[in-house]
Amino acid sequence: MEIFEKHVFVCTSGKTCSLEGGEEICSLLRKEVVEGGLKGKVRINKAGCFDQCGHGPLVVVYPEQVWYARVKPEDVKEIVQGHLIEDKPVERLFYDGSGRIKQD
Ligand code: FES
Repeated sequence: MEIFEKHVFVCTSGKTCSLEGGEEICSLLRKEVVEGGLKGKVRINKAGCFDQCGHGPLVVVYPEQVWYARVKPEDVKEIVQGHLIEDKPVERLFYDGSGRIKQD
């Protein structure tokens, strides 16, 4: 069995992300990964709290170690197409760990 090229974790069970739509984001990511032909290459996993509550739903992609905050359903296709398929992370959604979306 191959190991995954990318591993995506979605905070779904922490208190705030669960209220902010983490489950929906996880489901949409899984759907888009299958439709994008990435099954077996990219794994979407539910995760517990990332200790960054209040900025969710939060998504982390490895091996790049890119954090996305406040991900909305309409952002999911862009993350899958841009980051997971084209290897171009979606900078406008980057999270810098300080509570802000990263701005360059
Ligand atoms: S509930 Fe998602 S980071 Fe804490």
